[in-house]
Parts: sequence; C-alpha cells; structure tokens
Amino acid sequence: MSCGIVAYVGARKALPIIFDTLKRLEYRGYDSAGVALLEDKRIFLAKQKGKIKDLEDGLKSENILSGIGIGHTRWATHGRPSDFNAHPHLDCSGKIAVVHNGIIENYNELREELRSRGHNFRSETDTEVIPHLLEEFYQGDPLQALQKAISRLRGSYAIAAIFTGWDKVFFARKDSPLIIGIGEGENFLASDIPAVLPYTKRVIVLEDGDTGFVSSAEYAIFQGDRKIERKIMEVPWDQQAAERGGFEHFMIKEILEQEQSIRDTLRGRIKEDGVVELSEELAPLADKISQLGRIFIVACGTAFYAGMAGKYFLESLLDIPVEIDIASEFRYRAVPVREGDWLILVSQSGETADTLAALRDMKKRGLSTVGIVNAVGSSIAREADVTLYTRAGPEICVASTKAYTAQVTVFYLLGLYLAKLLKGMDIRPLGKELLTIPQKVAQVLAKREEVERMAEELYKERDFFFIGRGMDWGVALEGALKLKEISYLRAEAFAAGELKHGPLALIYEGVPVIAVVTQEALRDKTISNIEEVWARGARVIGILREGDPLEKELALSFTIPNTIDYFTSPLAVIPLQMLAYYISRKLGREIDQPRNLAKSVTVE
Ligand code: M6R
Repeated sequence: MSCGIVAYVGARKALPIIFDTLKRLEYRGYDSAGVALLEDKRIFLAKQKGKIKDLEDGLKSENILSGIGIGHTRWATHGRPSDFNAHPHLDCSGKIAVVHNGIIENYNELREELRSRGHNFRSETDTEVIPHLLEEFYQGDPLQALQKAISRLRGSYAIAAIFTGWDKVFFARKDSPLIIGIGEGENFLASDIPAVLPYTKRVIVLEDGDTGFVSSAEYAIFQGDRKIERKIMEVPWDQQAAERGGFEHFMIKEILEQEQSIRDTLRGRIKEDGVVELSEELAPLADKISQLGRIFIVACGTAFYAGMAGKYFLESLLDIPVEIDIASEFRYRAVPVREGDWLILVSQSGETADTLAALRDMKKRGLSTVGIVNAVGSSIAREADVTLYTRAGPEICVASTKAYTAQVTVFYLLGLYLAKLLKGMDIRPLGKELLTIPQKVAQVLAKREEVERMAEELYKERDFFFIGRGMDWGVALEGALKLKEISYLRAEAFAAGELKHGPLALIYEGVPVIAVVTQEALRDKTISNIEEVWARGARVIGILREGDPLEKELALSFTIPNTIDYFTSPLAVIPLQMLAYYISRKLGREIDQPRNLAKSVTVE
C-alpha cells in the first residue's frame, strides 16, 4: 500500500527539505499531506487534505528553525481523505508524532483497548493506534517503546516517529519500504530512494524487522535487541529514473508491483486456513445478503474486463444470475431490476463518469450497491453502500495493470465469502489456493525476459488477434486492449468459439493469434479453434499452463504456474501486459501517456 513518508535530521532547516523530499514521493499518494517538526518542548504540526504544495504555500510565512521533522503524503486506506485523517498523528500528550505507510490489520481491537485505557482518538485511521501505543510504552527510551509497540501490530508498516526531548527520528519497518539516506552532518528516512537523491546518493535499504534511529551525526539499526550493520549502496540513477524506482516507465514498475498489490488486497481479509472474512466491510448490506437475487457488474475498459472474471467466478460459485455491462451502455438500457438485486461497480479511479452515473441511477431505483474501487474517498467509494477497496496503490500509467489484478482478487474474495454464507460451502480449499497466487504472480514476473524476446519477434507485425474461452476470453480482451492502447497497433480479441461466425475472415498467412488456454475444462474446445486459425496460416502464440503438451507444437508460448481454472486470470494477464509494454517500447511509443487518452475519464 502506498503512502510516502520522509524524515530529516540535520543542521539545516528541516521544513523546506521535508517538503522537497515529500514532493518526490507524491506519485505514491496525494490525498493529503502533513509535517511534524520538533521544537524546544513541543511538536509543531501542520496537515491538511490536498496536495503537498497547498500545505507548503500555507506555511510560507512560518519561520520554523527546527532541524528535525517528519512528513507524509497520503494515499488513503482507512478513513477518507480529510484534514483530521492526514498524517502525522499525535499521542494524547502531543509529545509524540508518527507517520506511517502500510496497513495495521488489528487496529480496531487496539483502538478499543487503548480507548478503554483512556486514550483519545482524533481520526478514523488505523495509524493513530501507533502514537497511542508509543505513549503507553514510553518510559524514557523511545526505541524500546517503539519495539514494544510494533510487537502489538499485525499488518505492514514503515514508521517514523519523533519524541520531544530527543534529537533523533526513530523508525521501524515490516512489509513496507523504508530507506535511510546518509548525508554529511544530516540523515534522512524515506519510503523510496528518489526522495533523497538531491541530497545524497548513499542509501541503506532497510529490511523487515529493522528498527532504529537517525540523528544528524549517526544512525543505528537493530533486529530485536541486536545492533546490526546493513550495506550502504551508492545509487547510480538520475532523478527522473529514480522517481520510477529506476524503471524506464511507470507501466513496467506497476506491472512488477503486482505480487505486492495482490498480497495487500488479500491482507487481513483471508486467513491462513483459507477462510475469507469480509463481514465488517460488508456490514451495511449484512441484512440484505440472504435475499440476494441477481448481480449486475458495471464498469468501463480494463475494470470491465476484470468484471468478466468476476462474473464467471460469482455465477459458478453462487449459482445466481450475474450480468455484466459496459457502464455507458447500461445507463441507457431499460434494465428491469427487482428487489434483492445488487449492482457492483468496478473502478480504479472511482470517478469514471459513466460508472458513477450507473451507480446513482440504480441507487435511486433501490438496488444495493458495492464499489470495487482503488482510490479511497473517490465519488464511487463514497456513494456506494459498501466499498471493497483494491489496495493497489496509485496507478500512474494510463494503461491499467495492477488495478486489474487487484480487482479480480477482490471478486475472488467476495465470491468465496458469499459462497460460504449463502451456500454453506467449505471454501477453505479454494481460499488456500487463492493465497498461493501472489507467489505464482512472482514466478510469472520473474520470466519477463521471455516476453521481451517474444516482443522482439512480434513488434513489426501490424495486426494481432487474441482468443480465449470462458475466463480466458476476458483475459484475451484485456490483452488486446493493453496492446492497442499503448502500441497503436490493431489488436482485437474474440471469444474463440465465435471465430467461425465472422472473424475467421480476417486471418491471413503469418498473422499473430495469441491464444489464451488456461481453462482446463475448456482446453480441448479452444484447441479446436486454434486448429481453425492454423489451417489458415496464422502464427499461434500460446499463453498456457505449465506442462501443457501444446507448448511443444508452438514456436512461441509462455507458461503460467498451475492453479485451478478460476484463479488463472491474474497469472495469464501479466505476460500480455508485458507483451504490450515491450512491443510498444520497441516501437518507441509514449508508454505512460498514450495519445488521445486520460487516466481518469470524468466525462461521458
Ligand atoms: O478508473 P476506472 O477503472 O473506472 O477506468 C476505467 C477505464 O477508463 C480504464 O480501465 C481504461 O480502460 C484503461 N486506460 C485501460 O488500460
């Protein structure tokens, strides 16, 4: 989950440096910003909803001499974007300030416990339990208090904390990135290397379980009680590349983040034994679940294709009708709705005009509404009865990648949860398999050079066709969208069984046809369609399961790790995302901002 945190301690004024470093992390989130600086006996705190620049402008007249402070730019997860939910958060005494990036899964129970011990909470965030825990454990040693506090946390965190009376910034890290920047007479903490590059190229990448502090003259890192050394790295990147984490484009950075974004989306919602728990998130619709009649899934573009995986999964598990519609069509169709019907809106931005309009219309007609949304506090997230967030973090590239796999993951969670509730199904075997998907995604990502070689062979082609059946059809559609969107090549996808009803006329000698064949149950049927294009001279490229004998018959193919049919979509889509990326790179296209397109489509 993305937010950006920074800290500075040194001889210079901290405030301008904190703003400068924070701005280079704005790609990680931009819902709100905040700073806390250590003054003599108190902490100066300023935070507000909106961009870092707005906060900076508001503080122009302040002359704060402090050389120690922390800063935060937020991508909201718990609690909507607002002034009071902005970080840093303080303890009750106002003597401890904390910034945090990550998700505290057990914040509800900790908050109740701390409230019962008299702590006063001012925000809706999960983070606020941390300063209160620090207050609880502080007995003169901030590092000890921090180590005790994190022993109570479940989830992920990169934390930076300041305590009045201590000219140090204390930190802890687990499953969220954090680096130390080592300067001359000054040191930094940051979520990512680009933040500190204008000040130093010497960094330490902290690891899970690390705690410690930075002061102007030194830093110390501990694992438990043991002081340890970590390697100092000299960063070779230039500033621009660094903002993309050293990658040439946001698109490839975001593709490679998918193991983490799926993990984050699953986090706290599925237990090790495979049981899915969404009762808190679905609470506003709790009394409607047993009367669930039909489900309409409505979305645009990539979100629509993620919805296709959702449709196949939900209807097969729940045995109820699930319809899917493109939002711009749905809103002008005379859709007959009945009591008990649900509308699921899928959207990365949460602001897509057609999807939002469909939500508003159907709410008026009495449907229960569920948003599957990435941007916290966005219009769809605010207006739907329930929002199940995809925790993919900010997606900067116009072409959507990590949002798709996170959306499909949310459909899996929702389907499993409802199947247990409505059908009394033992979902644990499926749930356990779902838990293996992030690791399998990592295996797919590790083979990216294979896709790069495939792109070398294909980038001179002008027409591409994609085929698949069942859930593979949705993947084929998404693969074709990705390719046309950023390469400007012609890329069309068809349900494999539809070929002979027209599209087969487009096939000519040598044309690439990308066949997605990951559904065991439909494999033989798809192969008969492959035969049809083969017979007309097409060059077939397979996206197959490991061990499929078809691989030997194809000159070009990519295999994904084995899993059950339901869960192949997030694995099969990744080679297609990468293929679109590498072909477009070979063609020298503007990958992150393709022509004629915008990231958020807020007009009809
Ligand atoms: O923000 P949304 O998910 O609602 O956006 C929907 C589409 O505009 C979006 O997925 C679009 O198709 C992407 N550019 C595809 O990569």
